[in-house]
Amino acid sequence: MDIERTLAELTLPEKAALVSGKNNWYTAAVDRLDLPALMMTDGPSGLRKQTNSGTTNINDAIQAITYPAAALSASTWNESLMHQLGEHLGIEARAEQVSLLLGPGVNMKRSPLGGRNFEYLAEDPLVAGKLGSAYVQGVQSQHVGVAVKHFAANNRENQLTASSDMSERTLRELYLRTFEIIVKSAYPATIMTSYNKINGVLNSQNERLLRRILRDEWGFHGAVMSDWGAVANTVQALKAGLDLEMPGKGQASVNDIIRAVHTGELDEGTLNKAVRHLLHVVDDWLPADHAQPYDHAAHHQFARKLADDGIILLKNHEDELPLDPQTTGKVVVIGELAENPRFQGSGSSHVNPTKLVSPLDALAGSGLKADYYPGYRLDQSETNGDLAEAALTAAKTADHVIIFAGYPKAAESEGFDKASLMLPENQSDLIGSLAKANVHTTVVLQNGSAVEMPWIHSVAAVVETYLAGEAVGEATWDIITGTVNPSGHLTETFPRRLTDTPMAPTFGQDPHHEYYTEGIFMGYRYYDTHEMHVLFPFGHGLSYTTFEYTNLKLTQNERGATVTFDVTNTGARSGQAVPQLYIANHASHVPMPTKELRAFTKVAIAPGETETVTLALDRRDFSWWCEPKARWQADSGDYEVMIGESSRDIRLQVKLTMDFKNSPAPITTETYMAAIVKNPQLRDLFKQVVLAPEYAGPENFLATTDDQGSLQIFQDRMFMNMPLRAVVALGGPQALITDFITRANTLLRQ
Ligand code: BGC
Repeated sequence: MDIERTLAELTLPEKAALVSGKNNWYTAAVDRLDLPALMMTDGPSGLRKQTNSGTTNINDAIQAITYPAAALSASTWNESLMHQLGEHLGIEARAEQVSLLLGPGVNMKRSPLGGRNFEYLAEDPLVAGKLGSAYVQGVQSQHVGVAVKHFAANNRENQLTASSDMSERTLRELYLRTFEIIVKSAYPATIMTSYNKINGVLNSQNERLLRRILRDEWGFHGAVMSDWGAVANTVQALKAGLDLEMPGKGQASVNDIIRAVHTGELDEGTLNKAVRHLLHVVDDWLPADHAQPYDHAAHHQFARKLADDGIILLKNHEDELPLDPQTTGKVVVIGELAENPRFQGSGSSHVNPTKLVSPLDALAGSGLKADYYPGYRLDQSETNGDLAEAALTAAKTADHVIIFAGYPKAAESEGFDKASLMLPENQSDLIGSLAKANVHTTVVLQNGSAVEMPWIHSVAAVVETYLAGEAVGEATWDIITGTVNPSGHLTETFPRRLTDTPMAPTFGQDPHHEYYTEGIFMGYRYYDTHEMHVLFPFGHGLSYTTFEYTNLKLTQNERGATVTFDVTNTGARSGQAVPQLYIANHASHVPMPTKELRAFTKVAIAPGETETVTLALDRRDFSWWCEPKARWQADSGDYEVMIGESSRDIRLQVKLTMDFKNSPAPITTETYMAAIVKNPQLRDLFKQVVLAPEYAGPENFLATTDDQGSLQIFQDRMFMNMPLRAVVALGGPQALITDFITRANTLLRQ
């Protein structure tokens, strides 16, 4: 398409219609110019294509493969699999002539109460950024665009237009960072703004966010669309840099835009910018070919593979698992969730699965011989005496007990936050009783985010399957029987209890504000810095084999450092390790978490084999956001690199000193004497200028020397803590100090 020509030919009402969205799932078409409508559908873990655009029933959509929710797919820590997930979704979207897939969801899991946490990737921006980028590249490799959502700092569901109030440093380092990584490395077609405000300004109408940061700083070239209904004032949104209001307020939005252009409130050039961005998206992402069918069975298998790679073995006391079907005796499977599994979240990400395989359906195929008892009713939280009793009786004589536990659909959803991290009481009580009745009790969890586990010490094993998608049954037994060696790791901390979370007292309380008072100390950055006990740390995940880490080597270069180390599979099974690299910053003088994740990988290793892992660090990995300078700053000084299997299981560490050749801070009247005395050149200059001989003498306290003739002042600790301007009070003439400042800055610039 000749974008500029089309733009020139469009009338004002046509342009207004284009930036307003036609309805829920289409942009406006302009038949006169053969400009087609573009179709978009949710995302992120399966297609929710609604054939009837007017429908308000979220579940009224085509059947599609239901992949694991992001909570589980991210637990793979596997960029290659996330790319493949994107490819599969892209192929399916193309088959449905969908141009834009509304995903991935990449907001931080700030509080485990967040209602949409299941749809998000991590509590750490690097994990979310790298996995999100791989997903975006995968989808877009199939000629289908994405909408990375929800931009930005959208971390609660209750009263979702509340203002996320935080410092600029917190915003940059945590809540914008993932988007920045994805924009810079994966070039997403579109970004979706969120419902909330940041520091009082509505995101869809926030020029600093949409133009200054997203486009000018990060170089974003795609289009910015709003979340559904997230725009309060269409004209203000366009002025701030929004390109597409979704689904638009129909003719009302169009009329507002036309009126604003006529009154001069909206410059037509600004409208043209938005139209241009949108035309590019239409041109770039319109389906290139006719719908091609795809292999449903193969895609279902991929859903299983992804779940296999993500499921996390949280606890495995005395190798309770795996249960080998050949040698395991009598097994009882308990819990209605085995029969009616929770395999996806509720809300706009809900998919109608093509082939849901429950754990009970897949039991026979697993080879295990087991009896099933529902144990509790999923739609109740009170114990059902008969069901519980029957399960307990069976458990007493079994060799192994497997209880499926989690939340009913209605408890975890988009649209509201949770109020507790406790499982329903009937399930929690049953787990406690089963564990007392049989020491070989395994808990299999189906949930969207962290839960409390008051029974943790009494059960033998815990398997976290989150919301595992339509192949939930097959994948669960793959792990329990050991057909697949677990390799999932948590991308969020499981705190011991809700009250341990830093934002517990205020989360979701104020209808208009969410106070990010914990600042950059969120997730493991908080728990680790305060050395708090947690239930399971960030990055944790067990395997049926063991890995040994040795041979850490580090080479520094101009840009940062390269770290290499060996990982050996010291067990008897093939497995995948997830080495995580954390940095501790001892160089900067601002508050710093004790460690921050700066690189990771996933590596498959055969028994007895060793793989060498290489991870690169660049300047940004040593940087923090400096508010006064409004830029990233890397400080010269001491750091520590740590390699671990979780943030609490550090296997190797090495100290290093970085020299970042920062341009020195200019000398001003506020510069402390310590900074001057520390620098030999400045110290000499100070002596020469401020302590000039004509001023030496008893009346100039500054020039007092000791018996050896050394200036006493340079040894005076009090003096070191004074700013340069205070030297006047000690007898330093103002004119000489001004002269010193000028000459010192000239010296520093040389
Ligand atoms: C959700 C988005 C979703 C959109 C369209 C909104 O309510 O927040 O994530 O893509 O609806 O269904």
